[in-house]
Amino acid sequence: MEIQKITVLNGCGKDGKMEQVERFDLEMGNIISIVGPTGCGKTTLINDIELFANRNTPSGRQILINDEVIDDDFSFDPKKHPIALISQHTNFLSDLPVGEFLKIHGTVRGADDIEQIINETLEFANQLTGEAIIKDTAMTELSGGQTRSLLIADAVIIGNSPIILLDEIENAGIHRSKALELLKNYKKIFVFVTHDPHIALSSDYRIVMKNGGMQQLIATNGEEKLAAAELKKIDDVMLTFRAQIRSGKIITNEILKENIKTLSN
Ligand SMILES: Nc1ncnc2c1ncn2[C@@H]1O[C@H](COP(=O)(O)OP(=O)(O)OP(=O)(O)O)[C@@H](O)[C@H]1O
Ligand SMILES: [Mg+2]
Repeated sequence: MEIQKITVLNGCGKDGKMEQVERFDLEMGNIISIVGPTGCGKTTLINDIELFANRNTPSGRQILINDEVIDDDFSFDPKKHPIALISQHTNFLSDLPVGEFLKIHGTVRGADDIEQIINETLEFANQLTGEAIIKDTAMTELSGGQTRSLLIADAVIIGNSPIILLDEIENAGIHRSKALELLKNYKKIFVFVTHDPHIALSSDYRIVMKNGGMQQLIATNGEEKLAAAELKKIDDVMLTFRAQIRSGKIITNEILKENIKTLSN
């Protein structure tokens, strides 16, 4: 089945009341964000999407594919599962070397040129990490940020999943603006659970959650898109300082002023 559109129909929040946002649609090429305070139900919402909930989860939400209800016993061919979820807490149980893991996944997915796809995946992942991931490293030895970067690259390139759900990638310390920039080159549906204002304002729209329920749907307007570009500058300044501090540099008043100055350009 070719997925063109996913629809989320409302259920209930934690208080048992119907959610304010009745529905939202995800179409190919869309980037959307889920925002809201800790514990408000963001992960629960993307889990409902991943499970293709059919009024059978605690929220009572229903997911439609191409406007149609999916049977409870429907399951995708694992080779072609359309959804990849990069979860908030990721640990590998396998101590296979990274290269082996990617090779197995590439083979299962029927990739033509395994070596090339492995290199492409590592190249993508290594643009998001501080220290590069090496093919021979065991999966269990990767850091949290490296793990998440590898999983994103794997989902996009090897998994080729049309729908990618990302739960708070910023917390793993990966290069999130870079991730957004790279992901925009792929025509997929991306759903970001995020506390990051730049990601939220770079989305087509955002769902604001409260007390387990979808409270508001806000389409990003022109003014917000301009704000997103300004926030990106602030983010870049923060990243510059982060890189300098990580590399053992002493921050002087002069360096501070020099960098802050770039914000008014
Ligand atoms: N609609 C709902 N109905 C019933 N329970 C819910 C609902 N939404 C969330 N919950 C429950 O609330 C708790 C917190 O939800 P969740 O983990 O999704 O929050 P979160 O926004 O992802 O938090 P964090 O920012 O800490 O990751 C979970 O135990 C979840 O089962
Ligand atoms: Mg969560």
